[in-house]
Amino acid sequence: MAEVVIVRDAEEAGALAADAIEGLVRAKPDAVLGLATGSTPLTTWRSLARRGLDLSRVRGFALDEYVGLPREHPESYRSVILREVVDVLGLDPLLVRVPGDDGGPLTTAGRRYEDAIAAAGGVDLQILGIGRTGHIGFNEPGSSLASRTRIKTLAARTREDNARFFSSIDEVPRHCITQGLGTILEARRLVLLAFGEGKAEAVAGAVEGPVTTSCPGSVIQLHPDVLVLVDEAAASRLANADYYRYAWDHRLEVAGA
Ligand code: GLP
Repeated sequence: MAEVVIVRDAEEAGALAADAIEGLVRAKPDAVLGLATGSTPLTTWRSLARRGLDLSRVRGFALDEYVGLPREHPESYRSVILREVVDVLGLDPLLVRVPGDDGGPLTTAGRRYEDAIAAAGGVDLQILGIGRTGHIGFNEPGSSLASRTRIKTLAARTREDNARFFSSIDEVPRHCITQGLGTILEARRLVLLAFGEGKAEAVAGAVEGPVTTSCPGSVIQLHPDVLVLVDEAAASRLANADYYRYAWDHRLEVAGA
């Protein structure tokens, strides 16, 4: 079972996620981080930035990217990652990759991205948000639980949700390239964050629902080391919320762990 922590707000969640990253980087200065875009991880990056850690050797792999946007478009995930993560944290941009960013043919970009992750020794800690469709990365409902980095078609609901970043929904790409669910499961640790009522159904499906392609986030139940950080609103449909609160309030602090 994932460790589920119901926090006061996004700030507290960001601090806990940043604690996990800080612990990792102190032990392994060239750690490999799995980077998520979206509004959810922003408090994590900000909290981490405030700690003054040297993150210049940290390597990063983004989860996903739109297909069809110019690289320099302000809403390409490459631009978003550079602006919201690399600049904020002081990462070395040369050590941060986004799917399809190597200039090679798009049809084989997934394979090359997988090879690059493997060559880096795999992802140590993957930060995840979750979409209202239950997607993680851009793995929409129906994605194979064993899927690898590949091109996908975005769900209509995801395009609607992401239209806020564009001047009209017509500008939101219809396709993306995303790490697969099988790829994400190979990260050594997963930290999933979600805030707000709009995420409550997806969170309940991911944490407590059956493991099913209909809620791609439910694949986290197959991973042995998952931390889920949710606010009260996002936790509002969790059947076992009282237990999660009890377990967190009585957590066993083990020295050195
Ligand atoms: C986006 C991204 C996901 C992200 C999710 C939630 O479309 N591809 O990686 O986790 O949707 O976004 P937000 O955090 O803005 O709610």
